[in-house]
Amino acid sequence: MNPLKFYKSEPIPLEFHKVRIVQKLNLVPLDRRLLAIKDAGFNTFKLSTRDVFLDMLTDSGTNAMSDNQLAAMMQADDAYAGSQSFDKLQKAVQDVLGKKYLLPTHQGRGAENVICRTFIKPGNIIPMNYHFTTALAHIMAVGGKIAELLHDDALKLQSDNPFKGNIDIEKLEKCIQEHGVENIPFIRMEASTNLIGGQPFSVRNMMDVRKVADKYGIMLVLDASLIGENAYLVKQREEEWKENSMEEIIKMITSLSDLVYFSARKLSSSRGGGICTNRKALYQKMEALIPLYEGFLTYGGISIREIEAMAVGLYETLDETMISQSPDFIHFMVTGCMNKGIPMVTPPGVLGAHVDAMQFCSHIPQEQYPAGALAAAFYLCSGVRGMERGSVSSARDENGNEVLADVELLRLALPRRVFTLSQVKYAMDRLEWIFDNRKLIGGLRFTYEPPVLRFFMGSLEPIVDWPARLVDKFRKDFGDSL
Ligand code: F0G
Repeated sequence: MNPLKFYKSEPIPLEFHKVRIVQKLNLVPLDRRLLAIKDAGFNTFKLSTRDVFLDMLTDSGTNAMSDNQLAAMMQADDAYAGSQSFDKLQKAVQDVLGKKYLLPTHQGRGAENVICRTFIKPGNIIPMNYHFTTALAHIMAVGGKIAELLHDDALKLQSDNPFKGNIDIEKLEKCIQEHGVENIPFIRMEASTNLIGGQPFSVRNMMDVRKVADKYGIMLVLDASLIGENAYLVKQREEEWKENSMEEIIKMITSLSDLVYFSARKLSSSRGGGICTNRKALYQKMEALIPLYEGFLTYGGISIREIEAMAVGLYETLDETMISQSPDFIHFMVTGCMNKGIPMVTPPGVLGAHVDAMQFCSHIPQEQYPAGALAAAFYLCSGVRGMERGSVSSARDENGNEVLADVELLRLALPRRVFTLSQVKYAMDRLEWIFDNRKLIGGLRFTYEPPVLRFFMGSLEPIVDWPARLVDKFRKDFGDSL
C-alpha cells in the first residue's frame, strides 16, 4: 500500500486519481438475471453488459484510461506505413522495457502466435512457470507441449509464499536434461502468473532461470502482460528491491529476457500487443509473420490511436500510485473475505481477487465444474460478472480426454481505477451471502463444447434446477431488494 498513514480510521486503499468521465450502471432485477444467465448457457463470457452490474470478468481492455492517454489519441498520425505514432511507441518500449526492436501485434495472443510459429517444432517442450490459456493453445497448435515447473507448494491456494510464480530451478534442470536442449526452443516466464491467482515471481528467481538458460544456451521468453504489478509486488515483498524504483525493477526483469511479449490490453491500459528484443537476429526471424497475420510493421493490426495510448500507458505503469491501485484493492477484498471465512487465494495477487471454488463448493465434484457453477451463482445473486478459471477453462488432451484443472478459481477482476471501494464492498457482501448459502449451488454440464478455447463460447446447464432454489432463498432473505 502507498505510504500514506491514517489517523484513527481503518487503513483503506486510497485512490490517487479523480473520476471525470463516468458510465452509468444498471443492476437488473433478479428475474432478469436468471433469464440472462440461462440464455448465456451459464457461461459469464456470454452475458451482455446490459445485464451486468459490476463487470469483474477481466482487466483486459477494461482498465480506466488516463486523460493523458485520451489526449494523445487525438494526435494519432494515421498512416499505413511509417507512422510517427509508432516511433513514439518504439521509444516508450525502449525507455520502459529496455528493448530496441519492436514488432506490434493486434493483442497478446497475436504475439504468441508469431513466437510459437517461429520457434516451436512438433514435439518440442516449453518449460514455464505456468501456462496461460492462449499461450497453451498456440503452443499446442504448432505441435508443442508444456512443462509447468512451479514449486510444489505454489498450487496450495492458501499460503504465505510471497512468490508462487517462481520456477523451481531443480525441476528446470531436470526437465532440460530429460528432454534435451535440442527439444527446448525457449523457457517461458509469465509475470504475475495469471491462472494461479495473479502470483508474482521474484527477481532472484528470474536471475536463477537466466543462469540455467545461459548454461544450456536456451532462449528466455517473458510474458510481460502483467509486469507492472509483478514489479510492484517485488518492491513490496523482496527485501533487496525495496528501495528500487518501478523502472529499475522492470528493466532488471526485462534485461534478463531475450524476448519480451505482452498484451497491451493489460500492460498499458490500452489495446494492442507486441514483441520486443535487443537481438536483431530474433527480430528478423519473426518479422515476416507480422504483415502476414497482424498488419504492417508500424501498426500490427492496432488502431494508430491506440498506439498513441499504448505509448503513454507504458510510461504510466512506472507510476506507483497508479500501478498500486488494483493490487491494493485486491488486498483489501481478499483480506476482508478471508476474515469472514471465505476461502480465497493467498497471498493476495494481482488482476483480481480469486475465490477458491473447490473449497467454497466442496460438495460439487470437480467434473461438474465448481468454479463455473460458482461464477453463475454469484452473478445471479449480485449482478457481478466474474470469470471461471478452472476446468471449464482447461483444454482436453490430444486424445480428447477431459483434463481437470489444478485449481478451480472464480476470478473477480479489479481493472485499474475502475471500481470504487463501496462497489467492492457490495461485491464482498454478496459473496458472503452466497458463501453462507453455498450448499444450494449445484453442478453444471456442457451442452455445447467448442473444440478450442471452449470456455469462451461453450454452453452449460445445471445438472439439477439449483438456480431456482437459489432465487427462492434470495427472495426470502432480501425481499424486494435488487
Ligand atoms: N498472457 C497473459 C498473462 C494474459 O493474461 C493474457 C490475456 C494474454 C497473454 C493474451 O493476451 O488477450 O491480449 O490476446 N489475458 C486476459 C485475461 C484475456 O482475462 O486474463 P490478449
